[in-house]
Amino acid sequence: MIRKPRLALIGAGNMGLALASGWAEHGLIDQQGWLVIVDPAPSEAAQDFAVQNKITIVSELDKDQASLLETVVLAVKPQIMAGVAEELTQIIPQTTLIISVAAGLTLNRLRNYYGDRPLVRAMPNTPAAIGRGATAFVAPSSVDEEACTRANTLLGATGMVERVFEERAIDTVTAVSGSGPAYVFLLAEAMAAAGVAEGLDPELARKLACETVAGAGELLRQRGCDPAQLRAEVTSPGGTTAAAMDVLMGSGGFAEMMRRAVNSAARRSNQLGAQS
Ligand SMILES: NC(=O)c1ccc[n+]([C@@H]2O[C@H](COP(=O)([O-])OP(=O)(O)OC[C@H]3O[C@@H](n4cnc5c(N)ncnc54)[C@H](OP(=O)(O)O)[C@@H]3O)[C@@H](O)[C@H]2O)c1
Repeated sequence: MIRKPRLALIGAGNMGLALASGWAEHGLIDQQGWLVIVDPAPSEAAQDFAVQNKITIVSELDKDQASLLETVVLAVKPQIMAGVAEELTQIIPQTTLIISVAAGLTLNRLRNYYGDRPLVRAMPNTPAAIGRGATAFVAPSSVDEEACTRANTLLGATGMVERVFEERAIDTVTAVSGSGPAYVFLLAEAMAAAGVAEGLDPELARKLACETVAGAGELLRQRGCDPAQLRAEVTSPGGTTAAAMDVLMGSGGFAEMMRRAVNSAARRSNQLGAQS
């Protein structure tokens, strides 16, 4: 039987493949009406994925394929979005739901490209690659419930997903969870470097720091509770953790620096959106 795709993924790079892997894992490729991937130079990983899941990768959609699409997920770099849109808008229906994961690409810009088609702007993050992403999305109020549910299902295949109702929140989402994995990696780096400065072997310091960050993250996730509560549980009054917390939570400490860092990232996201 020849299956006609109703879902298209444009761009099978890091984020595109993370999404497609999530769809495959959650049985969504069948449920959402089969998938076609568009990528002119697919990586080996993309080709392997396609073979394993019996999916076609094409360098461009033909009119026949495009006319049946109910959902198009855009996972290409923001700078090539205009060219992609120019080709797509010639051949996809007016009713096709467009989901963009491109950083900084505003709904306004997407509307310029795709007109009145239903639009969703999403911000995922890199742990999506292992099904542990954190994504938020925004859609104009004109996008109906069914389309929002579809977007929620597709984006949720890589981890948690939440809808926000004001687009400016996406700048803050970008600054908290989009860029957030880098803050956590920096934390591991800084802990390891501090251990080395106190005399630990560099390899041991790296292993201890990485496992601590990963293990503490997992504990936080499994307990599903407030991080402040977990922190309090490991901080005995007058103990070693308390001595460290006095430094980290003091004036100009970790919380204040994070506040400045997130503010700076959110402002940058807003600037990039204005330039897009
Ligand atoms: N990675 C992340 O953590 C992350 C997080 C949030 C949002 N995003 C967003 O996700 C999008 C993709 O990012 P990425 O990191 O996945 O980038 P990427 O790895 O470079 O993936 C983009 C893919 O699209 C392909 N491509 C190029 N031109 C194309 C075309 N005309 N039609 C179809 N595919 C085309 C690229 O092929 P070539 O390599 O051959 O050019 C590449 O395989 C970006 O807009 C980014 O802002 C990414």
